[in-house]
Amino acid sequence: MKKIALNIENFSYDILIDYNLIDNIGSIIKEYFNASTVFIITDSNVVSFHGEKINSILDASNIKFNTYVLPAGESSKNIDTVNDIYNSLANSEITRHDIIIAFGGGVVGDIAGFVASTWMRGLRFIQVPTTVLACVDSSVGGKTGINISAGKNLVGSFYHPSLVLIDANMLKTLPDREFFSGVAEIVKHSLLFDSDMFKYLEENNKRLDIEKNICELLEKNCILKGRVVERDFKERHERMMLNFGHTVGHSVEKHLGYGHFLHGEAVSIGIMFALKLGVKLGITKNESLIEQVSSLLKSLNLPTDLPIGIDVLSAIKLDKKRMSDSINFIFIEKLGEPIIKKILLKNIIF
Ligand SMILES: NC(=O)c1ccc[n+]([C@@H]2O[C@H](COP(=O)([O-])OP(=O)(O)OC[C@H]3O[C@@H](n4cnc5c(N)ncnc54)[C@H](O)[C@@H]3O)[C@@H](O)[C@H]2O)c1
Repeated sequence: MKKIALNIENFSYDILIDYNLIDNIGSIIKEYFNASTVFIITDSNVVSFHGEKINSILDASNIKFNTYVLPAGESSKNIDTVNDIYNSLANSEITRHDIIIAFGGGVVGDIAGFVASTWMRGLRFIQVPTTVLACVDSSVGGKTGINISAGKNLVGSFYHPSLVLIDANMLKTLPDREFFSGVAEIVKHSLLFDSDMFKYLEENNKRLDIEKNICELLEKNCILKGRVVERDFKERHERMMLNFGHTVGHSVEKHLGYGHFLHGEAVSIGIMFALKLGVKLGITKNESLIEQVSSLLKSLNLPTDLPIGIDVLSAIKLDKKRMSDSINFIFIEKLGEPIIKKILLKNIIF
């Protein structure tokens, strides 16, 4: 088993990674928390694939549990779902001494984290991510949130899980499209911080290749993200780099409606936009990086072209990193070398 210890602003938690880790969830809960009641938040797909398993393991461990199942998909990530979960927590008499388990992808993790941060002013929660994206990105770093009609993740909180438990076996039931959507965030990490990982992906771009060393890859990505978060939890500077590709990615998602492109697919488009803009503004030194990254993303079945009709500028105006007439935009100077540049909104044209 791989174990990564994170220490963020005096709050420590572990990320555990292995195959079949879920088999030990009962003993892990007892060892870490000495708790006997949990509340599982999951979605309709995850419960159909893995619900029976987690239920029987908790039963066998004499852990009492209730489960809230939300409809799978980004459209559930809203205040109505949160309200419904609060009512369910109340009916299940969940108190601050109990534990919430976020059992699912980034949507479940973001909602469950938000609920955990606000229910009775905060109770402990465990992230059990079941998508690649959630394993390498959303379950690490303590950002929670929901969407409102004005934009994505505009309501949320910084709130740490008390444990992240990654069972690589869970990923086997992911549809290909979801699998590669998560790999987009791995490409992002490689562009930002790890040129060797970029080369590795170039040579291992089939799902079977990636799955062969999945635990190592997940570990590497959790460490890369985790260390950045340790140094800059509240995203004052360095953590902003993790938003590479996201400014435009979010606008694509919002413009086309959540669900048209998967999150990682929208980020893939945003990565290409940022690279092209970087070359245009003379920040990204190597023009051939555009072609190199584009062919990697395409080989991973990820989209690279900005869809026609996307009003990037008006969406950017809602970005959390925007100032009055400028925005902190993340560029890549060279492979593995990111830079944050304040650019005028009027220079973002394509
Ligand atoms: N908090 C953060 O730091 C952070 C970072 C990145 C992304 N996010 C958020 O994460 C969300 C995207 O996450 P996602 O891509 O995991 O989406 P998701 O949670 O919607 O999961 C994708 C799909 O896969 C299904 N699924 C999940 N696990 C499965 C499994 N093991 N087998 C079969 N199907 C499974 C889900 O039901 C869903 O249909 C977005 O809302 C995004 O804003 C948050």
